[in-house]
Amino acid sequence: MKAEVTAQRNADDALAHLGHINICAQRLSDFGPLKLLWCNNICGFMTETLAVRQEALPEDMRVLLRDYPRDAWPDHPNFAASIQNWMGAHVAFRQLAELVKLDTELYLDRTRAPEDYAARLSYFGNLLVRNLHGHHTWEDRKFFPELSDADPRFDSGLEVLETDHEGLDQLLDTFTRQANRVVKLEQLDEPQAREEAGLIHGQTEQIEALLDRHLADEEDLVVPILLHHKMRG
Ligand SMILES: [Fe+2]
Ligand SMILES: [Fe+2]
Repeated sequence: MKAEVTAQRNADDALAHLGHINICAQRLSDFGPLKLLWCNNICGFMTETLAVRQEALPEDMRVLLRDYPRDAWPDHPNFAASIQNWMGAHVAFRQLAELVKLDTELYLDRTRAPEDYAARLSYFGNLLVRNLHGHHTWEDRKFFPELSDADPRFDSGLEVLETDHEGLDQLLDTFTRQANRVVKLEQLDEPQAREEAGLIHGQTEQIEALLDRHLADEEDLVVPILLHHKMRG
């Protein structure tokens, strides 16, 4: 049961971080009636996969990172609480994706009961999708334009990150449709739900891989700009 305990702790940590950015901070113990995710269609297997960007950002996007290396950020006087909270949200997204993946593993090895899995998939899947979508929509519309105004040398890096957001949206949409399908199948045809939960597992692994690439590059590009121009303090 170690994985379950870890998953529960990760959920609490994730929700604590999410609270810092003023989005849903309901605790696991409070979750009430089931709420299906966005799409209600039972529309077939969702097996498409999305290639995660393999190449790092170009070297000229890292010029400020050399002056503001990651291990020096915590002690920098311009490392404001708002920057730390933004990075905390990134930690929370990773934890939520891992939580859904670990829950799926527990269901697939029959450690987690079907109705518990469906309830948690509905709740945490919804939390992951809505908060990730809200986060990167805010980055595209407000945060990145602020950074571009402050230092246009890094616009091409921001464009790569915006393209990542588009890929992430596709992935989240596929995940949402498949999760809805599994939640419904849990009541209608549990063996089929179990079979299709394997797809959920693969999709959470893809989300994790995309987040690994995207969030590290995003922080390496953005935090030095914020420190250099004393922004968001
Ligand atoms: Fe972000
Ligand atoms: Fe982002």
